[in-house]
Amino acid sequence: MTDAESTVSTDPRERVAVVTGGASGIGRATCARLLADGFTLAVLDLDGDAAKAAAGSTGLGLVADVSDAEQVEQAFATIVATFGRIDVLVNNAGISGGPAATICHETPIEEWDRVHAINSRGPFLCSRAALPVMIAQGSGHVITTASIAGQVVFPARCAYTASKGAALMFAKSLGVDYAHAGIRSNAVCPGFVQTPMTQWRLDVPELREKVEGAIPIGRVAQPEDLADAIALLASDRLSYMTGAALVVDGGWTAL
Ligand SMILES: NC(=O)c1ccc[n+]([C@@H]2O[C@H](COP(=O)([O-])OP(=O)(O)OC[C@H]3O[C@@H](n4cnc5c(N)ncnc54)[C@H](O)[C@@H]3O)[C@@H](O)[C@H]2O)c1
Repeated sequence: MTDAESTVSTDPRERVAVVTGGASGIGRATCARLLADGFTLAVLDLDGDAAKAAAGSTGLGLVADVSDAEQVEQAFATIVATFGRIDVLVNNAGISGGPAATICHETPIEEWDRVHAINSRGPFLCSRAALPVMIAQGSGHVITTASIAGQVVFPARCAYTASKGAALMFAKSLGVDYAHAGIRSNAVCPGFVQTPMTQWRLDVPELREKVEGAIPIGRVAQPEDLADAIALLASDRLSYMTGAALVVDGGWTAL
C-alpha cells in the first residue's frame, strides 16, 4: 500500500462531501441523503441560510457563487481548513436560464453566458479547487449533475442543452484524466424532476400532462430519486465506474 492509499478513509462517518446548489431541489435532497449515510457536508449555495440548514449541525454552509473564481477558491480554502479532506464533490448547482434562453438567434448573449457560467464554468471551477486535495489523498469522486439535455436536445433551450452537454463531457474528461490518481468522475443525468426549477411548468395541468405523457414510468422524478442515484455513486459501490453517465429519467430517453 502506498502512503496515499493508506490515507483513504473507509469509514463513511469520516468522509467529507461538498455539494454545490445544496439549498434546494436535487441538491437539498442529496444533502439529506448523504447526511443520513454518515457524510460530513460542506454546502455551497447563493442562499447561505438554506445551505447551513442543509449541511446539518456537523457541516458547513457557505455562500458562494460557483461561477466566481475567487468565491469558489475562498470556499474550498475554508472547507480544507475545517475538514482537511474532500472525498466527494457533487457539482450540482445549475440554472435552466430564463424564458429568453430559447432558440439560438433569439437568445441574448448575456443569457447564454449566464447559463454557461453556472452550468459549465461552475463544475470546472469547483473541480479545479477540489482536485488538488483529492490528488494528495490519492482518492476522490467528482459527481456532476448534468441532464439528459446533455445527451438529447431540449427544443428551444439551446443554451441549457449546450451547457449540459459541456458539463457531461467535462465529467467524462475528469474520469479519463484523473483515473491514474485514484480519482473517479461520473455524471448523473436526470430527466424531469419536480423542483423549484420546474415547478412553474408542473403547475400548469396541460404542461404536466404533456411531460408525464413522454415518460414511460408515467411520473416526473422526485428529488429523492436523484439523491438516491448520487448517494449510490458517492457510496464507493460501483467502484469500477468512471467517465460515465448514470441516466435517471424514468425511461424518457429510451423511447
Ligand atoms: N429539475 C430538473 O428537472 C432537472 C433535470 C435535469 C438536470 N437538472 C439539474 O439538476 C441541478 C439541480 O437542479 P434543481 O432542479 O434541484 O434546481 P433548484 O433551482 O431547485 O436548485 C438549484 C440550486 O442551485 C443554486 N444555485 C444557482 N446558481 C448558483 C450559483 N451561481 N452558485 C451557487 N449556487 C447556485 C440555487 O440557489 C439552488 O439552491 C441543476 O444542475 C439542474 O440543471 C435538473
